[in-house]
Amino acid sequence: MADQQARPGEDKRPSEIPVIRWEEPPEGPVLILLDQTRLPSEEVELVCTDASALVEAIRSLAVRGAPVLGIAGAYGVALAAARGFDVDEAAEALESARPTAVNLSVGVRRALAAYRDALAATGDPTAAATAALASAQALHREDAEASARMAAHGLALLDELMPGGGHRVLTHCNTGALVSGGEGTAFAVALAAHRVGRLRRLWVDETRPLLQGARLTAWEAARSGMAYTLLTDSAAGSLFAAGEVDAVLVGADRIAADGSVANKVGSYPLAVLARYHHVPFIVVAPVTTIDPDTPDGASIEVEQRPGFEVTEILTPQASAVGGGGGVPLAPLGTQAYNPAFDVTPPELVTAIVTEEGTVSPVTPEALAALCARSRAT
Ligand code: MRU
Repeated sequence: MADQQARPGEDKRPSEIPVIRWEEPPEGPVLILLDQTRLPSEEVELVCTDASALVEAIRSLAVRGAPVLGIAGAYGVALAAARGFDVDEAAEALESARPTAVNLSVGVRRALAAYRDALAATGDPTAAATAALASAQALHREDAEASARMAAHGLALLDELMPGGGHRVLTHCNTGALVSGGEGTAFAVALAAHRVGRLRRLWVDETRPLLQGARLTAWEAARSGMAYTLLTDSAAGSLFAAGEVDAVLVGADRIAADGSVANKVGSYPLAVLARYHHVPFIVVAPVTTIDPDTPDGASIEVEQRPGFEVTEILTPQASAVGGGGGVPLAPLGTQAYNPAFDVTPPELVTAIVTEEGTVSPVTPEALAALCARSRAT
């Protein structure tokens, strides 16, 4: 096990390079991303000058994680508008770049609506492009605020469930500042616990096949100075059996109206383990991840990714789309099953923590009431 002790006092933002930012050099507006495929070995910027470059960045996971996909989608519409491209075409390509994280279409549609409304009102494409950008920037800001509120609600829940403190939390995939305008979702809760001295250890699943846990969460945990330990996904069972896990904290890519949670593949087995071992399984996500138009888990489209992600170890430099180029792990021609997400049924979810508060037990009625409350504020 790769093990890291807490280093109190060290608490940095994860990178000198912002996760996502808009710039307007003389050559024209650009969207600049921290290329997450290159972490942790290199901090490299990826400059998108049009929506199709952003679509490629989304597919390759250079930018990834539900909330920031929404922000990126909104900026993508603004970029197409500002550069004079066909905005409807760009919006359609962005929205379908990845199917599971509903935040992507929420972000794209919000910026598109702002663009269309302004165009209808003024007839001026420049004013419409400005409106699309303002909408993306507002979403960016709101996500940062939502992240802070989720962290507060999540910490309160941890303290309520485990009044003694000293939480040992298991997490899966990556849910920190890399996925957000703020400090993230599930990871932001662990960070809040760390800051008040109540996180004893963050157990970090490596998260096969693309290693978001090992490459990204461990990197964020190290930079925050928290005590963390990396484990292979298949070691989680023995960790539960040893009584070493007090709570599981994960994010979500889409929450159906019945409370089913789509998240990184490997989340569902953790929920089953958590139930067997009487450990709370807590989902942390912004309200925008709840999709009232998706009635249940079976209706969630789960992205299937290329087999080479499983049959090869991809080096940071190897592209995650379009053809491997990594180190082979299996005989040539091996078929691989590679769903990017799985779906956890609501009965295995102890609580869903959002910026509007916590839903527990998870029922369709409680989720609908939370969404109604959020719309009213
Ligand atoms: O395929 P990825 O890396 O985009 O998957 C990300 C996840 O599954 C995260 O857990 C999810 O988006 C929640 S992030 C707050």
